[in-house]
Amino acid sequence: MSKNLRIGIIGTGGIANAHVAAYKKLPYVEIVGVADVIPDKAAAFAQAQGLTEAASFDSHTELLRMELDGVSICTPNISHHRTTVDSLRSGKNVLLEKPMSITLQEGIEMTQAAKESGKMLTLGFQPRYDPNMKLLQTIVQSGRLGNVYYVETGGGRRRGMPGGTFISKKLAGAGAMADIGCYSLDMALNTLGYPRPVSVSAFTSNHFGTNPLYHPEASKFEVEDFGVAMVRFENDLVLQFKISWAMHMDSLGATMFLGTDAGLKVTPAGTGPWSGVWDGSVGSITLYHDEYGTQTSTPIPTIGHQLNLFDRKVHDFAEAVRDGREAPIPGEQILIQQAIIDGVLRSAEARREVSIELPDFR
Ligand SMILES: NC(=O)c1ccc[n+]([C@@H]2O[C@H](COP(=O)([O-])OP(=O)(O)OC[C@H]3O[C@@H](n4cnc5c(N)ncnc54)[C@H](O)[C@@H]3O)[C@@H](O)[C@H]2O)c1
Repeated sequence: MSKNLRIGIIGTGGIANAHVAAYKKLPYVEIVGVADVIPDKAAAFAQAQGLTEAASFDSHTELLRMELDGVSICTPNISHHRTTVDSLRSGKNVLLEKPMSITLQEGIEMTQAAKESGKMLTLGFQPRYDPNMKLLQTIVQSGRLGNVYYVETGGGRRRGMPGGTFISKKLAGAGAMADIGCYSLDMALNTLGYPRPVSVSAFTSNHFGTNPLYHPEASKFEVEDFGVAMVRFENDLVLQFKISWAMHMDSLGATMFLGTDAGLKVTPAGTGPWSGVWDGSVGSITLYHDEYGTQTSTPIPTIGHQLNLFDRKVHDFAEAVRDGREAPIPGEQILIQQAIIDGVLRSAEARREVSIELPDFR
């Protein structure tokens, strides 16, 4: 091993535990500092995690004064922008929890900060590490479907609304569309090779979250629990994207890719209210095509695996930093889906189609 990696954790709430658990499995990683804005929370976290050597701070800026190779940013969505820009500008590589940010402008600034600092900004989308995601990309990008002109993705929970920081506009910035929508968007866009969006028309609602019958924190519920959007891309491709945290329905359907020569249907893995396409997990893949003048369908065997996808994403970040590799899931790519989420929120508020202006970081 060439050297030890010095890692810091920003935000010591729920998901930080999974980051620390994954880092602890790597003998060459040392977690040397943790920070949280709630006084003493970081210190309590370090103690509970047995990080006896780690310094703790009540702000990320204090942590960033340390010599660090990288940070995991595990704060609520709204502070992703500030903490990421500050970390990159102080020369730290960043593994950022999803979603990237709330507004497109924030995403642009974060991407610029990565370019200017020469440091890595990678996004924590663990479903990417499912080998079936690569399989989908291989099938669609092989050209087997012909010209892909329509894609439908999303899905949802019949009843699965979070609470706490996730439902506060001030802290989460957005609801289901950004929280779980970012996974299905990534599934579709990554499979297609991240085409560039040009406009979006969206509708969002929160009939369940704001109803005390369905949510114990209804009076504090400020974000969307349902959303649907029609996104237009360059080259006459359209994508319908729908997400729910709660609904009177079992499913919002499968992910599908319609092409001029064949179609592909992807169903979610798992059952139950918190399972589904929304998290990018692949249950079945079926190709719909014509053979010898007849309409037929062919199941494509999925790849079974025992991978811990969350560990894989943290380990890939650490390995990329250690080996001087490019960002595994780079900010400039995820900026494209951030532009869609930003457009969804603008369009839903304006109640009309809005255009998407995306800078070119390629
Ligand atoms: N990849 C996944 O599977 C997954 C799962 C859950 C949550 N997440 C994402 O992780 C992020 C955090 O979620 P969570 O469930 O851990 O939330 P949480 O509310 O449990 O924890 C967030 C912590 O960040 C702290 N914080 C806020 N601003 C800060 C700042 N500027 N500097 C330092 N600390 C700050 C808060 O005090 C809190 O302790 C969210 O963006 C969420 O979308 C990802």
